[in-house]
Amino acid sequence: MLKAKTAPSLAAALGRAFEAGSITVSDTGSGMSAKDLADNFLVIGTASRKREVEKALARGETKSPFLGEKGIGRLSAMRLGERLRVETATRGELKLNILEIDWSKFSALDAMLDEIDVSATTGGAKPMASWSGTNIVISALSEDWTKPRLKEMAEYDFARLTDPFLDQKSRPRIVLFWNGDRLSIPWMDRKLIDHAHARVEGSYEINQGVPQLRCTLQAIDLGYDHPKETETAVVQLPDLQAAVIGTSGELQDLALISVGPFKFEAHWFNRRRLGEIEGIGEMKVVRELQEKWSGILLFRDGFRVFPYGEDEDDWLALDRKALRRQGYSLNKTQFIGRVEISRVANPALVDQTNREGLRETQEHQVFLRLMQYVIQEQLFRFMRHMDTQYKGQKVDLGEAKSEIDRLAARANDAVRRLRKFTPLEGQPTVEELQQTLLEFSEFAERARRRIEEVEQESRQMIEMAGVGLMVEVVAHELARASEN
Ligand SMILES: Nc1ncnc2c1ncn2[C@@H]1O[C@H](COP(=O)(O)OP(=O)(O)OP(=O)(O)O)[C@@H](O)[C@H]1O
Ligand SMILES: [Mg+2]
Repeated sequence: MLKAKTAPSLAAALGRAFEAGSITVSDTGSGMSAKDLADNFLVIGTASRKREVEKALARGETKSPFLGEKGIGRLSAMRLGERLRVETATRGELKLNILEIDWSKFSALDAMLDEIDVSATTGGAKPMASWSGTNIVISALSEDWTKPRLKEMAEYDFARLTDPFLDQKSRPRIVLFWNGDRLSIPWMDRKLIDHAHARVEGSYEINQGVPQLRCTLQAIDLGYDHPKETETAVVQLPDLQAAVIGTSGELQDLALISVGPFKFEAHWFNRRRLGEIEGIGEMKVVRELQEKWSGILLFRDGFRVFPYGEDEDDWLALDRKALRRQGYSLNKTQFIGRVEISRVANPALVDQTNREGLRETQEHQVFLRLMQYVIQEQLFRFMRHMDTQYKGQKVDLGEAKSEIDRLAARANDAVRRLRKFTPLEGQPTVEELQQTLLEFSEFAERARRRIEEVEQESRQMIEMAGVGLMVEVVAHELARASEN
């Protein structure tokens, strides 16, 4: 570019610079033979994966051999850049099969379907005799791929692409490079989950055609004094019909079975009570982590189904419901959770072609309602039940002093931090807040002492009343004795 003296040569240099960027996706999977490329890769909407999955299921296999279904996934590469190069080989082959497509030659997708005239060629030797796999290189990129952008994707999107609840060993391995620098994809520390304040875990099962929902509910720390409590709820067919199917006639009972079994867990965090966790970090770090992993995500065979659990997505209608509630608000950012479905067990829960959610079917509706019922009815009811049992109990005067001190210290700490961020003209208000707080805690302390005195006095009264009663009894007895 620096050497270019004329406008056309600068344009040519710019063109070359533009084409230098590429995205490469590599795998060491089965690879494709030249015939596979022609029969599967070059056929839009190929059902090759679907056929193989169906064959496997017919053989009685319990795990789906492939994720692919529709035969359109690879077309998304088109959105990333104008040129596509595929280098692939199966285990038995000696050389690479190469396919090159320049999308810009096909002005419209419809035109492409019949105009397309690309065929695979044979390339150089494979990297190793026994190698099989596929490299897909996309160039003439349509967007900027900066390191910060990719880093953000690693932190958020890639971290949640595969189930973060699985331990590192059983997660599918994906690595990400930016110009040769490896970007780490974070994994979720289970310790964070262990510090949840409430949770619901369970499964939806279908045994001999009879569905049943099983939830284990746990209240760990709801923000007031209560024992840790665990409850198991088993919801049977009639209740499921009432909760999920309803009477509108929209949904049929059969969908309760055809939806298929699944498992779920949702961990609730009261963010204000989230403090330091040993092995993770101080309060701020812990709160950030909680926020980062928040959302109840959906996974099929360990891979994410979008957009369930995305920041903008509220599939369990938590935020909408939260507005109407008193007491607890079960907001989606307070949860970390997952729901696990599988291709084999839930064949009716299929993706839309645009991958923007599950297809609108009865089973999908039932699935949504079941999960909403788990969180909104089961968990919420359980937490409310804990409230009525334990919340607002008598204050323990023995601990009131330390509680007042603890709260005062917390408030003071917050004011101190507030002062740092407040501009000059706001300082008198912060001062006023500080002063009010001080008076408030002094007042609380005086009130506590007064309550103690009153209690003392009332105890004396009771004692005196007791003495009085005794005197009366004695007097009565004396009178009787003297009468006789
Ligand atoms: N990396 C790969 N390794 C081996 N075969 C591949 C690879 N990518 C694509 N194919 C072949 O090309 C076909 C089309 O791939 P594509 O991702 O478009 O569709 P799919 O995976 O079958 O379904 P979906 O649209 O649900 O992703 C696949 O069915 C498979 O036969
Ligand atoms: Mg695919």
